[in-house]
Amino acid sequence: MNTSLIEIRLKRITFEAERISSFDFVSADDRSLPGFHPGAHIDLHLQPGMVRSYSLANAAAADPAYYRVAVQREPDGRGGSRWAHDKLRVGDTLWATAPQNDFPLDECASCAIFFVGGIGITPVLPMIRRLDAIGREWRLMYASRSHKETAFTEELRRIDAGRGRVCHFHDSEPGQRLDISATVATLAQTTHVYCCGPTRMIDDFLAATQARNPATVHYERFSATQQAAMEGGFDVVLHKSGARLRVEPGKTILDVLLDNDVTVPYSCCNGVCGSCRTGIIDGQADHRDDFLSDEEKQANQSIMVCCSGARSKTLVLDL
Ligand code: FES
Repeated sequence: MNTSLIEIRLKRITFEAERISSFDFVSADDRSLPGFHPGAHIDLHLQPGMVRSYSLANAAAADPAYYRVAVQREPDGRGGSRWAHDKLRVGDTLWATAPQNDFPLDECASCAIFFVGGIGITPVLPMIRRLDAIGREWRLMYASRSHKETAFTEELRRIDAGRGRVCHFHDSEPGQRLDISATVATLAQTTHVYCCGPTRMIDDFLAATQARNPATVHYERFSATQQAAMEGGFDVVLHKSGARLRVEPGKTILDVLLDNDVTVPYSCCNGVCGSCRTGIIDGQADHRDDFLSDEEKQANQSIMVCCSGARSKTLVLDL
């Protein structure tokens, strides 16, 4: 087993909402767990070939006593959430990566507003706790299908403590749809805006915030907006070993790397988490991810090998 992974033990499962449970993991060997900042995630190795990223929902700390993740059961998903709900039992041990953070909180902003959809509440919980701790203003606009599908309502009520900072929107109830564009239009330009939720919500958020300073706009996607590049028909050359690998139709670069026992980090396999980012030495990538910015794609210095392909006949990777 990769020694950079941490062995963790499932200590508690809590029903949070319809189809959503939280899972608390402690260290399996009583050593301290690596710390994390708000917005961080860990990758859980659920089974061989089944690695999934989950945001941490408990309060960020330098020496956390546990990691809490929340999992929404997706009947039509790729199987990770079903496995977690159906198979994980208290006492089970798993391997996990140390926390990484692709959705950091800007603690300098005097005011922040969060647009959240469904399970997207998870990374935002430690963020609003942290903003409270350092005396910053924040508001949370939390959209879900219905009250019974809304996770962490009790916890949010405690955090809000009657201040009216948490607003719930239930799509199933008339007149309750969250209007991101109308809300953003009322905000001061200095307010930092965050979004975590399904693709359509992120798209609405990006459209509503396109005129704002990009440094104040933060978001994290769960699922891809584009099809992975599976057309194949090009070679990948590994710069360090000189090995040349053929990417055949029906395979991603990541598939080919793993088939050839090349170790690369990966997690979501959807082009959203950033885990598989790999340097490009030569060649032109066909970017299909939702992680790199347009400028980074233009610069062609790195590629998400889980979903992107090549426009050139050969792609030389920093591997
Ligand atoms: S594995 Fe998540 S972006 Fe590639």
